[in-house]
Amino acid sequence: MHPVSSTSSLVLLWTDKSNYKTPSSQRFWDKLDLDAGRPLDKKIEAKLPEFRKLSVTQINNRKYGIRKFSSEFLKTHPDAQVVCLGAGLDPKSLDTAEDHPGALVFDVDMENMELKEKMTREVQGPNNLKFCTANVGKPQELISSLKAKGWNPEKTTFVIAEGISYYISKEQFKDALFALKTPGGAAIIEYAIPDEDVVAENKELITVFFNLLQDMLNWPTPLERYSLQEASDLAQELGARIETLESLEMEKGRGFVSDIPPGPLCVSYLTYP
Ligand SMILES: C[S@@+](CC[C@H](N)C(=O)[O-])C[C@H]1O[C@@H](n2cnc3c(N)ncnc32)[C@H](O)[C@@H]1O
Repeated sequence: MHPVSSTSSLVLLWTDKSNYKTPSSQRFWDKLDLDAGRPLDKKIEAKLPEFRKLSVTQINNRKYGIRKFSSEFLKTHPDAQVVCLGAGLDPKSLDTAEDHPGALVFDVDMENMELKEKMTREVQGPNNLKFCTANVGKPQELISSLKAKGWNPEKTTFVIAEGISYYISKEQFKDALFALKTPGGAAIIEYAIPDEDVVAENKELITVFFNLLQDMLNWPTPLERYSLQEASDLAQELGARIETLESLEMEKGRGFVSDIPPGPLCVSYLTYP
């Protein structure tokens, strides 16, 4: 078992193993020791149980939506490159690489990439998966690290930006997406809308939660959030076609459209001409 830091553990603790379909991604999942995140999770459950429920729903829905879009794209572009920004220890890249052996998948993160590479070897994970340690907020560093691992800027690239838009400035995020834009490529952008745009039933809950999380995790404030207008402007600046701005697939999720009104998370799917 490999211990995971408390902050990295939290999203994984709220994720259901069933999001990962391939054998090696499931073996990888079983090797994660998420105990460090449990005290934080318990605190959130005690203070804001409704929010925890909403988070679990939204995170699993977003994973469902992202898997659906990436599978659809890779079915029609089986030899595309896939770049997962801020991949962390999420086994999604193992799942993608194993499911699409003709694709070349790159995980990028500032930390844990050596550990993830080691764990991937331990579970006999796919060979078409590369690990890059780089700051996504620094496009030159990002690109040279990817090129060093075999990324080809001329080749169709599918970008998965899940759980990263919060941590870098809007300018940095746009620059990273520009740097990875390829003809015929696509990008999935996951983001959270600002408190004022969240449906009335959940507004107060979301505001309290983001403050609580920032306090507990000592995160830099504010976490970047995008209004639907900003997400649409970003797509336009990138010269992308918006397939969906706030994915219905995500809300449909895995039968998770419950009685819970929508939370702040959104998934956009963009394609490049
Ligand atoms: C909330 S986790 C998301 C993990 C995974 N993508 C998911 O959604 O389950 C955020 C990840 O982004 C990484 N990260 C944050 N800022 C970054 C940056 N500037 N460059 C690279 N990685 C970054 C963190 O190390 C962490 O692994």
